[in-house]
Amino acid sequence: MSKNFKRYTVTSALPYANGPLHIGHLAGCYIPSDIYVRYLRSMGRDVAYICGSDEHGVAITIKARKEGLTPQEIVDRYHEMMKGSFKEFGISFDHYSRTSAPIHHETASGLFRDLYDKGEFIEQVTEQYFDEEAGQFLADRYIEGTCPKCGNERAYGDQCEKCGSSLSPTELINPKSKLSGNTPVLKETKHWFLDLAKYGDFLKQWILVDHANDWKNNVLGQCRSWLEAGDGLQSRSMTRDMDWGIKVPVEGAEGKVLYVWFDAPIGYISSTKEWAAEKGIDWEPYWKDQETKLVHFIGKDNIVFHCIIFPAILKTHGDFILPDNVPANEFLNLEGDKISTSRNWAVWLHEYLEEFPGKQDVLRYVLTANAPETKDNDFTWKDFQGRNNSELVAIYGNFVNRAVVLTHKYYQGVIPQRGKLTGYDEEVIAVLEEFPNKISASIERYRFREALSFVMEFARLGNKYLADTEPWKVIKTDEVRTATILNIALNIAANLAIVSEPFLPFTAAKLFKMFGLEKMTWNQAGNSQLLSAGHTLGEMGLLFEKIEDETVEKQVQKLMDTKTQNEAANVPVTPMKDIISYDDFAKLDMRVVTVLEAEPMPKSKKLLKLKVDTGLGHHTVLSGVAEHFDPAFLIGKQVTMLINLAPRKMMGIDSEGMILMAEDKDGKLKLLQPHEGTASGSTIS
Ligand code: MF3
Ligand code: ZN
Repeated sequence: MSKNFKRYTVTSALPYANGPLHIGHLAGCYIPSDIYVRYLRSMGRDVAYICGSDEHGVAITIKARKEGLTPQEIVDRYHEMMKGSFKEFGISFDHYSRTSAPIHHETASGLFRDLYDKGEFIEQVTEQYFDEEAGQFLADRYIEGTCPKCGNERAYGDQCEKCGSSLSPTELINPKSKLSGNTPVLKETKHWFLDLAKYGDFLKQWILVDHANDWKNNVLGQCRSWLEAGDGLQSRSMTRDMDWGIKVPVEGAEGKVLYVWFDAPIGYISSTKEWAAEKGIDWEPYWKDQETKLVHFIGKDNIVFHCIIFPAILKTHGDFILPDNVPANEFLNLEGDKISTSRNWAVWLHEYLEEFPGKQDVLRYVLTANAPETKDNDFTWKDFQGRNNSELVAIYGNFVNRAVVLTHKYYQGVIPQRGKLTGYDEEVIAVLEEFPNKISASIERYRFREALSFVMEFARLGNKYLADTEPWKVIKTDEVRTATILNIALNIAANLAIVSEPFLPFTAAKLFKMFGLEKMTWNQAGNSQLLSAGHTLGEMGLLFEKIEDETVEKQVQKLMDTKTQNEAANVPVTPMKDIISYDDFAKLDMRVVTVLEAEPMPKSKKLLKLKVDTGLGHHTVLSGVAEHFDPAFLIGKQVTMLINLAPRKMMGIDSEGMILMAEDKDGKLKLLQPHEGTASGSTIS
């Protein structure tokens, strides 16, 4: 560590309160930040670990519209649910607030006003799409139209999901409002823009020079592309025409709210204020003292907001510290596909807990071992099972279990005295003394995968020590040697508990209990005599258990079912035809008719020749159903028919009308029949 900080403010991105949490959330920023914070606490550092729900923005209003609820109802539901999931997975926030909290409205509004009073905003009138029927300006996501790049007819105002282009609403061909379905009109509206170009030089120096060596490459890369873009940083509007959010606190801003990306990061500050007030301490040092280390954990889609826009706001205000690091992760995919809430392609945390009760650490382990730290990664159930069975069970669990079981068996659970050490013992002890530092160094560089691999290496060392020394054999001939071996093995296990705690907090707690100890901290790690002879172990417990093939197969099947459902739902529905008048409709003469005869048409694959009773007489109809129905099946059936369609000659025969059929998505034809028998010639209207 280059600098010793007095205290730490650690944040993780405020999740939108518009749906339950899934593994992508955990892997992206909540597990890494939790590991980091648990480590800092174990080191005895002063930490504020801050988060909360992001409750504004179109993400919320869109969800509310979809569900037919108010935005408030949506955020109330998901705020509670997310807070509960975090708790269950051991994400140990010091405080979890929400951006609808009054203290947040006050703080964000105050900060906006402060910048406004300093003349930092550029007021600008621009033209934006407006829905006249709904009486509203339209957020980008509320506009749909044809993508100018690929022709996708359902591109959004900000992005085409088909070809991935980012768009602006005015680029869409044939734009339609999602509120009313009408074509929106362009209308003038005033907004307040942050002149980001002004900060370009400062940001370049601060990020690309000062932090060139300690920020992650993926983060630096994105920053570079923003900061070195040919036309420089564009100014960004910090306000929106919407009614859900924090009112813009200036005159002439009725019907406008703060841009969600202006208010949400300020949520870190308001959440800290709320936390400090509850604890009766001062919040300001956590945000204003240069000796505080501020770290933002986020996913890669949040980089520009945390590295460029929010720092520009903090810097302009003047009193605040800037982040020392912004360790952003890339994305986690699921079984080869992008995780998606709307397509239900996710492993939901609340569902995982139902199906794997008590196995929070297994998921924490797999998501860390396979974390998307430097590139996108894939979660698969096979990998989940493999890591559980061959790493957690076979190495970690097996080692601890053997050490503890043998001690209970040979020494009634009392830690035996260490005798003379062999060269091998001394080697192992030397490694033990170095391990915690090695793990620390990785954690402090935000390399949690690597840190966890060292933790596992440590467990492997213990496992190998027992396999090599074979106390279960030695006991028959050399009781003193056995005592030494178990004393060393138990001390490896106790050290393992300490260094595992940030990663596997539930397991570590079980271990401390098994050792009959209060929780131990990182400062104690690296000591091969952590457990002294004569100390009595606690009760045995189960750490990990094997996960069977059928258990993960069931999870894979569930995903396959989702895929099938999505595919069915994705077959496009035939669009509605143009509206017709009642008079047009009244011209159609549709009847229930009875099929009297049916026979194939010679030389035609598609046509059947039918004779039907229309109540008005017998009519001959050629119908294109030969590939769908057996002629014999049709005879005697009542079907529906348009009888006044102008006769048409086909293959030398006059077809006098048309049999009506339903055609489903796969092109299968179904007869339309009255639900009870009725006289031939009954009219349909
Ligand atoms: N809600 C945003 C998202 O899920 C993250 C907001 S982070 C904050 O992408 F800094 F703005 F709070
Ligand atoms: Zn496109």
